[in-house]
Amino acid sequence: MSPHVRRAAIAAAAATLVAGAVYGSAQAQEDTSQGPSVQQAETLRDAASASGRFVGTAVNDGRLYDGNYSSIVASEFSSVTAENVMKWDTVQPSQGNFNFSGGDRLVDFAQQNNQQVYGHTLVWHSQLPSWVSNGGFNAEQLNAVMENHITEVVSHYAGQVAYWDVVNEAFNDDGTLRQSVFQQTIGEEYIANAFRAADAADPNAKLCINDYSTDGINAKSNAMYDLVSSLLDQGVPIDCVGFQSHLILDQLPSDYQENLQRFSDLGLEVIVTELDIRIQDPADSSDLQRQAEQYQQVVSSCVAVSGCAGVTVWGISDADSWVPGTFPGYGAACPWDEYLQPKPAYDGILTGFGG
Ligand code: G3I
Repeated sequence: MSPHVRRAAIAAAAATLVAGAVYGSAQAQEDTSQGPSVQQAETLRDAASASGRFVGTAVNDGRLYDGNYSSIVASEFSSVTAENVMKWDTVQPSQGNFNFSGGDRLVDFAQQNNQQVYGHTLVWHSQLPSWVSNGGFNAEQLNAVMENHITEVVSHYAGQVAYWDVVNEAFNDDGTLRQSVFQQTIGEEYIANAFRAADAADPNAKLCINDYSTDGINAKSNAMYDLVSSLLDQGVPIDCVGFQSHLILDQLPSDYQENLQRFSDLGLEVIVTELDIRIQDPADSSDLQRQAEQYQQVVSSCVAVSGCAGVTVWGISDADSWVPGTFPGYGAACPWDEYLQPKPAYDGILTGFGG
């Protein structure tokens, strides 16, 4: 067995163990107050665990103080991703000054609730402070800056973060490499260098490359497929590919599962990392029903692919979603509404996991 395939096999086994451990703490208990035969409703994390997968959400640091919000995150999810507070502009806003307070808060929350932490993200062109993007570094200097950031962050969280999005959004939609400061200054080898630095800092963390609009088979996902195949051939320590899955109602690619499968067939884990399904305003009940069906299809695609480790939704509530700010005229993308009431999409996810 080659090193990368062995690494992926270990990772898949560990994911199953994590899911099992989480299930043990959160499974439904009998509600004796209403008679011995009445059970509490099954949660997403129960259903995901029973299917050997994790179910996660992005967590907005500023909302963790709201008890209604945090109790949903705690009870329904087995994995948490920091929506913003582990990104470069928060963690190292100026050179050599590291701020782990928000990330540490999420790690503490996850440990209290027996959850996995999914680290997001180490190397990304966005939310990158100007001291990096406009720093005037040459290739050697920028590579050292990048590797130092990765080393500091990954070692700070070593043993506490299960997965890292090491490189985020490296591609343009046409499949060419995005001309980020890393690509322009260092060249394509920044990607392999980033994975090697992360692996050195925490050999047990699973290391992913993550992107959007790679959810179906298209020029961008073909380029991702070629890149990860080449990284594996070079022995670069990559374990997983993240499919963000920021979808539009009624536009779920018909080859979604086939696309996950071909990456899984390389011996990598695949993960749905940032799922939401946005709807043109105003969303009516028929839209919400179709949205539920499409959430279910995404989740059942993950369950049908042996290498798919889990599904993370990009926020629980429509009140906190990034969608309306970025796509005016669209919203209602999340499984809970703005009053933190579950939408039909919630049942779609539950059913997708076999619940
Ligand atoms: O931190 C500042 C704060 O100091 C300031 O007062 C405030 C004023 O607007 O802005 C705050 O920064 C915002 C940041 O979120 C933290 O809340 C930015 O304006 C806002 O643009 C930023 O948006 C985030 C976005 O990434 C940035 O690209 C979203 O919350 C987050 O959901 C979104 O997540 C990304 C993933 O990381 C990668 N994939 C796509 C996904 C959606 O864009």
